[in-house]
Amino acid sequence: MIKVSEIVRIGPVIPVLAFDSVEEGEAVCRALYEGGVKVLEITLRTAAGLGVIERASKIADDIVVGVGTLTKPSEVEASRRAGAQFGVSPGLTRELHQAAADAGLPMLPGCMTPSDLIQAISFGYEIVKFFPAQQAGGVAMLNAFYGPFPNLRFCPTGGITPETAPNFLALPNVVCVGGSWMTPKAAVAAKDWAEVTRLARASSKLGHHAAKAA
Ligand code: 3PG
Repeated sequence: MIKVSEIVRIGPVIPVLAFDSVEEGEAVCRALYEGGVKVLEITLRTAAGLGVIERASKIADDIVVGVGTLTKPSEVEASRRAGAQFGVSPGLTRELHQAAADAGLPMLPGCMTPSDLIQAISFGYEIVKFFPAQQAGGVAMLNAFYGPFPNLRFCPTGGITPETAPNFLALPNVVCVGGSWMTPKAAVAAKDWAEVTRLARASSKLGHHAAKAA
């Protein structure tokens, strides 16, 4: 079982993905992989989610596919069976944490407030998702968290752009970022996979501070 501390070292950006169909999802994941993206998060926001996880997991031996937008404990085991190697949630409950622990699914739980962080630490997490990052205070908020929570590491996600990603990645407590900018709706609708690959390649080259991973 891969650890979250290893997952966040794979690349500077984890794409956050939602697809209208399994075929579309597989094509996009192939295009991202071709651009050097080897870790990705496929959300359960659409009915295609589990099917895409299954297909994307088979693209290559070194691709690491996670399931995103986990909100219900019942989604955990189904995602693991589909091939998800890690889970990402927008928030954290004891039930979700327990379901992930029972299924052996490494989790990147969503946190937004100091109370969320204290709960995550009490459950044993050392790396969490900060969501929604830009809307909840962005770089300034993460800087403020560093004082009381110096050992916690973050993957901020939500509202991050290729222009702002370097500011997040430069922080001492940020190990990678998440975002959807590598899969613009227009490019996906036009099946412009070369554009997805181009955006993926650019994101893979962003400075990565993996040494900060807990
Ligand atoms: C999300 O969960 O929606 C992710 O944080 C992606 O956010 P973005 O679309 O603003 O990059």
